Amino acid sequence: MFKILEARELAANIYLMVVEARRVAKKCQPGQFIIVRMDEEGERIPLTICDYSREDGTVTIVFQTVGAGTMKMAGLKAGDSFHDFVGPLGCPSEFVNEPQEELGKKKMLFVAGGVGAAPVYPQVKWLKERGIEADVIVGAKTKDLLILEKEMEAVAGNLYVTTDDGSYGRSGMVTQTIKDLVAEGKRYDVCVAIGPMIMMKFVCKMTEELGIPTIVSLNPIMVDGTGMCGACRVTVGGEVKFACVDGPEFDGHKVDFDQAMKRQQMYKTAEGRAALKQQEGDAHHGGCGQCG
Ligand code: NAD
Ligand code: FES
Repeated sequence: MFKILEARELAANIYLMVVEARRVAKKCQPGQFIIVRMDEEGERIPLTICDYSREDGTVTIVFQTVGAGTMKMAGLKAGDSFHDFVGPLGCPSEFVNEPQEELGKKKMLFVAGGVGAAPVYPQVKWLKERGIEADVIVGAKTKDLLILEKEMEAVAGNLYVTTDDGSYGRSGMVTQTIKDLVAEGKRYDVCVAIGPMIMMKFVCKMTEELGIPTIVSLNPIMVDGTGMCGACRVTVGGEVKFACVDGPEFDGHKVDFDQAMKRQQMYKTAEGRAALKQQEGDAHHGGCGQCG
């Protein structure tokens, strides 16, 4: 069992939990994720890692309530436990393995949309701990939905907050701020964009025009998280990839976002899942237990 040490609501329907998970905390790296289950029969819920402490043996997760599983999870309090807390899963962010000297020369821009601020935070923190300061744009629909602002401020070189409705910080979507910063003379060697699929699609469209290589973190439907079921299939550079083992981070300019978004919608209905199984044949694996 994995004990919850802290549980609080960060914004409407967005929750933070600090969980005692020593083995995961010892090994996890920025970019990776975990899968939780509340009980033996529970749904497997993949979540990106927001923070970790190797000393305390804790992992911090942030999640938004989107379905029955996450709604039930939101009811857990400090002192309750998860039945499973599996990880770290997926590949760490590529920059973790880059020579520090080379990395230090790069001007990096992180773009976090909504709950995407959670997986961006450990990446920027990891860089800061090594003396590398990155610029960060955090976008939220409104001021009330903005999360982790103080935490991000503490690790970012420059932090640009933007709200779609202009209720706080700059006004407009994250793409507007990217455009403004470049127009103001900022130059970036790499961009890391994490947030809703539609945001990552439009950030990539813009950075492609601006000539900025861009990494995105994909969060398609996942079931086993170990490459067995085929649920998290995506197309990158014309090749089939599985986000849980080949990603979750990919070259954003090569991702087929339209297909990924369509697939995400199809997975929601039994009819859609049956169609996917038929269309994807062997590459779907069929072992997800969802497709009949
Ligand atoms: P949201 O809808 O509030 O959007 C966040 C920000 O993204 C907006 O404020 C805006 O700046 C930007 N954005 C949205 N649409 C855009 C567009 N068309 N063009 C340019 N910018 C745009 O975000 P949310 O409600 O927090 O998003 C929830 C979604 O994010 C869920 O589907 C969740 O699964 C996903 N998510 C993804 C990851 C990941 O690892 N990729 C992590 C957490 C959450
Ligand atoms: Fe990736 Fe099953 S979740 S293959």
